[in-house]
Amino acid sequence: MKLSLAFKALGSLCLLLADGFPVSENLPPKIIGANHVKIKAHLGENLFLHCEAFANCEDTLIYWLVNNTFPEDLPSSGKIVESDESTLDEGAILLRSLLLKNVTSEDLKSSFTCVVINAAGMTQKKIMLTVRSDCNAGKNRKH
Ligand SMILES: *[C@@H]1O[C@H](CO)[C@@H](O)[C@H](O)[C@H]1NC(C)=O
Ligand SMILES: *[C@@H]1O[C@H](CO)[C@@H](O)[C@H](O)[C@H]1NC(C)=O
Repeated sequence: MKLSLAFKALGSLCLLLADGFPVSENLPPKIIGANHVKIKAHLGENLFLHCEAFANCEDTLIYWLVNNTFPEDLPSSGKIVESDESTLDEGAILLRSLLLKNVTSEDLKSSFTCVVINAAGMTQKKIMLTVRSDCNAGKNRKH
C-alpha cells in the first residue's frame, strides 16, 4: 500500500519550523480553514480545489484523495490532476491543489479529501461539490 509506505517514509523527528514558537512537543499538522467544505461548481468548468496547512513538523506530507483513491489511480485518470506540493514561510505552510478538468455530474458524487500527515498525526479536509444555481446571476434573464 502506498499509504503505509508514506508512513514509513516519515522520520521520527518532528521539529517546529515557525520562528518564535519554541514548542518542544510534536504537533500534528493543522489545516488552514474549515475541515469540511462545500463548493459550488458549474458543470463543464475547470475547478481548482486548494489545501493549505501548517506543517508543524519537518517531514510532513500533503496529498489529495478522490473517493479515497490517489488521483492518478482513478479510472478516469487524467481528468483530475494533483498539483505539485509547494511551501510558504520556509516550509512552515504546505500547499497543494487539485484540478478538476471539465466538472461532470460524477464529480458531484465524488469525495475530495486533502490529507496532511507528519510523525505526530494526520489531519484531513473533505470537500463536496454542489451545482451552482444560475437563478440569481441574471445572465440568462437579460432582455
Ligand atoms: C466535458 O464533459 C462532457 C460530459 O462528459 C462532455 O460532453 C464534453 O465534451 C467535455 N468537454 C470537454 C472540453 O472535454
Ligand atoms: C466516486 O464515487 C462515486 C460514488 O460511488 C461515483 O459516482 C464517482 O464516479 C466516483 N468518482 C470518480 C472520480 O471516480
